[in-house]
Amino acid sequence: MLLVANWKMNGSLDLLLQMHKILLAQSYPQIETVLCPPFIYLPAAQGLFSGSHIAYGAQDVSDQDYGAYTGQICAKMLSQLACDYVIIGHSERRQYCGETDILIAHKCVRALDAGLIPILCVGENLAQKQHGQAQTIILAQVQTVLDSLPADKVSRLVIAYEPIWAIGTGQAADPRLANEVHSWIRAIAPKSRILYGGSVNADNIRAFLSQPNIDGALIGGAALKPDVLMQMISAANEINK
Ligand code: PGA
Repeated sequence: MLLVANWKMNGSLDLLLQMHKILLAQSYPQIETVLCPPFIYLPAAQGLFSGSHIAYGAQDVSDQDYGAYTGQICAKMLSQLACDYVIIGHSERRQYCGETDILIAHKCVRALDAGLIPILCVGENLAQKQHGQAQTIILAQVQTVLDSLPADKVSRLVIAYEPIWAIGTGQAADPRLANEVHSWIRAIAPKSRILYGGSVNADNIRAFLSQPNIDGALIGGAALKPDVLMQMISAANEINK
């Protein structure tokens, strides 16, 4: 089971230290936990979590290698910081930074080439859901990336289904419906781990993780509180699948 904490543009060095204190006090070996703080905290994460059971990663990566790309960070830089994971194509980047499926696919290729595990985010918005377009949209988002990856690396790709209407709204998807979406994704990406994200919290996480096609969670707001994150890790451990 994989739990990923997406801090977005939140947090501080102090929060990282609090996480270190709480998360290292107890270990649940079958639950892989990944912290994704803003880029500038990654060197500190490396110092605190290297060699521990807590992994860390970035929230984005460039689709380019080294070069004249002001403000960007390339995958090789992230691997020098011993990041294991990188979130790619989050809906906030698609919306605010104009990221397209093809750009996102290139980012996934760069990440895999540098030895990182991409966490590809996909999901429909409310209008697409209401117009019955969710399946087409989601599968197209996944397929564009699958088509770009070398066959031997496809199994490393992690996919996070995050319905946009559920992100940060407190209105999580119905776990059974999320499971159904995961089964669509599973049909075209059978080797990928598939996470659910969107208003996951300590109260609803069990319902998601109990679903057969849900392999973990991508958690935003609720993962900013170390004790709540710990509760979610412990809940995941109880399900232990
Ligand atoms: P949320 O965010 O848990 O705060 O809804 C999830 C995400 O955007 O990854």
